[in-house]
Amino acid sequence: MMRDAAIDVRALRHSYGQREVLRGLDLRVAAGEIYALLGGNGAGKSTTLSALLGFIRPGSGSVQVCGIDPATAPQDARAQLAYVPESVALYDHLTARENVEYFLALARAARDRGTVIDPALDAVGLPGHAWDARVGGFSKGMRQKVAIALALARHVPVLLLDEPTSGLDPSATLEFNRLIETARDRGVAILMVTHDLLSAVDVADRIGFLSEGRIEEELVAGAAGARFDLNALHARYTGAKVSG
Ligand SMILES: Nc1ncnc2c1ncn2[C@@H]1O[C@H](COP(=O)(O)OP(=O)(O)O)[C@@H](O)[C@H]1O
Ligand SMILES: [Mg+2]
Repeated sequence: MMRDAAIDVRALRHSYGQREVLRGLDLRVAAGEIYALLGGNGAGKSTTLSALLGFIRPGSGSVQVCGIDPATAPQDARAQLAYVPESVALYDHLTARENVEYFLALARAARDRGTVIDPALDAVGLPGHAWDARVGGFSKGMRQKVAIALALARHVPVLLLDEPTSGLDPSATLEFNRLIETARDRGVAILMVTHDLLSAVDVADRIGFLSEGRIEEELVAGAAGARFDLNALHARYTGAKVSG
């Protein structure tokens, strides 16, 4: 399965000037999998996403998104993925529907309201009254729903999320987690970088701890009910931060 991983990062190294942030990162995420990449502030989580997006050119190692190297073919790689940054950039004066329509046009994707846009807004649970409201007044959670609706409408195989639950209250976090399960169940490979342990435990299929520029430990979800041991993880995570 992992041979065909949608996200495939091997021995990735990256420095900003003299500071080496990634030191041999190995990371693979398969279709239909949610991978939570945990790590303290400055661990290199966003840098990892930048490499997948082709925003940085790694010093060494290999990065592939659906078999495409984002450093050499950034447009092709970005066509395979949807990126939801910590604060979702939308056109505030446009409505939810219009935003999705506009970004689909930019991506040169099909943008029929009845068959593409409205089903996507419905799938993410954006309330009907909000579809034709300007997004300027939307909460973070609602803006994320619009961004994920766009990802679903584009049918991209890869979803990258940077700190998606920071600033969400616990019920909005759970709602967000259910939302990305919708994408996972459609076969999307999801990489969520976060320091929200609770959210990771709730939704991830695998959790990786990024420390010292590499995955220090990787955990696989157990059976439903006892997926991850939150207390053990918390001790592990805070311990990792002290030593890191
Ligand atoms: N463009 C940049 N130039 C120089 N240093 C950077 C740049 N981006 C990030 N860094 C540094 O690299 C380290 C990792 O950053 P980042 O990947 O944003 O961490 P995280 O997302 O895990 O908090 C931090 O020390 C940060 O200050
Ligand atoms: Mg970050």
